[in-house]
Amino acid sequence: MDIFDSSDRADMQAQETKYAGRSDRTVTTDSSPYFGSQYPESIGSAALSIALIGPGEERRAAAMSALTGSSGNELREFSSYPPSPDEVNRLLEQQYDIVVIDLDSDPEYALELVENISSSGAITVMVYSEKSDPDLLVRCMRAGAREFLTLPFDGNLVAEALVRAAARRPVNKASKKAAGRLLTFLGAKGGAGATTLACNFAVALAQDPNQKTLLIDLDLPLGDAALNLGIAAEYSTINALQSTSRLDASFLSQLIVKHSSGVSVLAAPGKFIPYEASDEAIDRLLEVARQDFDNVVVDWGSRLDFTGTAVLRESTAIYLVTQAGIPELRNSNRLISQFFTGAGPRLEIVINRYEPRSMGVGDEHIAKALTRPAQWKIPNDYPAVRKMQINATPLTLGDSPISRLIKQMARAATGQSETPATKKKGFSLFG
Ligand SMILES: Nc1ncnc2c1ncn2[C@@H]1O[C@H](COP(=O)(O)OP(=O)(O)OP(=O)(O)O)[C@@H](O)[C@H]1O
Ligand SMILES: [Mg+2]
Repeated sequence: MDIFDSSDRADMQAQETKYAGRSDRTVTTDSSPYFGSQYPESIGSAALSIALIGPGEERRAAAMSALTGSSGNELREFSSYPPSPDEVNRLLEQQYDIVVIDLDSDPEYALELVENISSSGAITVMVYSEKSDPDLLVRCMRAGAREFLTLPFDGNLVAEALVRAAARRPVNKASKKAAGRLLTFLGAKGGAGATTLACNFAVALAQDPNQKTLLIDLDLPLGDAALNLGIAAEYSTINALQSTSRLDASFLSQLIVKHSSGVSVLAAPGKFIPYEASDEAIDRLLEVARQDFDNVVVDWGSRLDFTGTAVLRESTAIYLVTQAGIPELRNSNRLISQFFTGAGPRLEIVINRYEPRSMGVGDEHIAKALTRPAQWKIPNDYPAVRKMQINATPLTLGDSPISRLIKQMARAATGQSETPATKKKGFSLFG
């Protein structure tokens, strides 16, 4: 079905011309002290896309902090080594500029990975270790690693290593615009709070005037993100998915409604429309959205459609929204063991409506059910959330314990979290 008649097409053409004249999204790389004077403009003109593979949790967290010194870079975290050559190939297909690997969890396997990944030639491989063992250093060098970083990380040395990697990047890759972040909210169970958090998180991201943020309601067909934000949309996600053959940034812009907070919204339909989207249509929509927006926030609901799509495969982070009740924790456990044990998207667990010892479930039991500690605990504040629904004013435009936490989540997602002070240590294999 064509959603636009001929007069709409004329409007769209006018808009298309406007779009063609607009300059591309720019990526800022100089916001952190790491990069201030050392990051040449020619190199900083495109963000680096970095995969961090670190089974050792503490070391990975330290590496993450050191690497997020630059807010412009696209960083994806893996909590285990790729278990098979197929997984390594999948990693290579993602076209990362840099792969950073923890040596200490399993040095022999890590060395094999270094060799496999660096043999592609296009990727800079860096390794990190708590020990500066000269034998290991030589073996890493022979396997193809370009940088050997030791813990605790020194921000300046990491920054210099990134500059060298940027300089080594093939010219066509350096000029390619990095895809926007894909930040997905998945409810462990209906009513867990995925929509409330996705909407407010997107509004928080949209407060940065240098970043374009889009919220996509993929909780089809009954998603209510638009309702939460108090907006009425003429077109919907289904219109985008039905028109993938002509879906581009210009067409997408016709379907989007801009909320007063600055966030763009691709809403679920206002009326019930039975529709089954293909995986290819979802992938195309996300590809187009990420070409044009710095942040694409997805409300995925809790229905687990589209697990074969980029939503699961390519999300920069998936926020699993759960609560501290037994059914929610049980679902979370099943979802984590099904989708988040191997190499895959970065999982961040959010316990919503959190009250210490609520329903008799203590933190230690929660962590056990979730197989790891939750990154975020959002307090239970029904009056504040209800007020938002009645006034259609996002929580993150005001100040409250919930809004402070969601803003913190947004800052962390864009790499603006604080970097701990580190001691100078670590060296490069090559100049
Ligand atoms: N932190 C919170 N404190 C109090 N109430 C909350 C909180 N988060 C969400 N709620 C309320 O819980 C209800 C469900 O929230 P929401 O619609 O965001 O969940 P959902 O996971 O998107 O649900 P659905 O499965 O319907 O999509 C809403 O009435 C919302 O106002
Ligand atoms: Mg919802």
